[in-house]
Amino acid sequence: MDVIHSVAALRERLERVPNNVFVPTMGNLHQGHIQLIDIAKPRAACTVVSIFVNRLQFGPQEDFDRYPRTLENDFEQCRSTGVDVVFVPDEREIYPEPQTFVVEPSDLQHILEGAARPKHFRGVATVVLKLFNMVRPHSAIFGKKDYQQYIVLRDMIRQFALPIEIIPAETVRADDGLALSSRNQYLSPPHRREAPRLYQTLCQMRDELLQGARDMQRLELEGMAGLARNGWRPDYIAIRRQADLQAGTPEDTHLVIVAAARLGPTRLIDNIEIELPGP
Ligand code: PAF
Repeated sequence: MDVIHSVAALRERLERVPNNVFVPTMGNLHQGHIQLIDIAKPRAACTVVSIFVNRLQFGPQEDFDRYPRTLENDFEQCRSTGVDVVFVPDEREIYPEPQTFVVEPSDLQHILEGAARPKHFRGVATVVLKLFNMVRPHSAIFGKKDYQQYIVLRDMIRQFALPIEIIPAETVRADDGLALSSRNQYLSPPHRREAPRLYQTLCQMRDELLQGARDMQRLELEGMAGLARNGWRPDYIAIRRQADLQAGTPEDTHLVIVAAARLGPTRLIDNIEIELPGP
């Protein structure tokens, strides 16, 4: 496994193996990332993982400084899962000068996660486009845990005609249903015990929809009230169309329920896809 820090060295290394598949990460790798790597590996001669905590996608009050950085452990996990190249640039390598050109995603960047985290998706899209230009993969794998991020990047690839196949990966969960996330380690033990309620709430809403409930607003409000009764501060629970994350109507069949809520100081997100029978 090659650990590479500079864009020049990365280009030189990948010149020899142009057929590569890419897993962009911010490090602190867990089973969710390992699944992305497992999906990547059979698809190309060379699997490239990047580890870069991207300041551009964090708001001023967010956790950029305390975001967990565990490089040695990440390298070990990459080695044992058979990654070929780990790209670990520092900030000057990715942003050698102030980033005055950015990717502005559509209005999608202002709803749901974007409403709570202004400029977040602009930061994500900008760094991912830069990383794509550095790695030049034929495919890239993204987890559906960050559902809106996946949709934004899928649309960016399509609209800029990037020659990259985007492959979504299912969310990996702990035994009690909590979606794996680097931020779970911020949870205190009592909050960790409470945390699966977010996914349980989504599952209950899914079951009601499958049983024929169609009053989306009632379901959303009840879901949020249930969390609030148990000490959460929900940002949103929203039933949306999978295709574009616009509000779901009773006629839509491919839906996703997306949610974000705070438990103590920790903000958790999750989602669940639903396929309803057609009319
Ligand atoms: O999902 C993440 O870890 C990050 O948003 C990404 C895609 C690596 C961009 O910094």
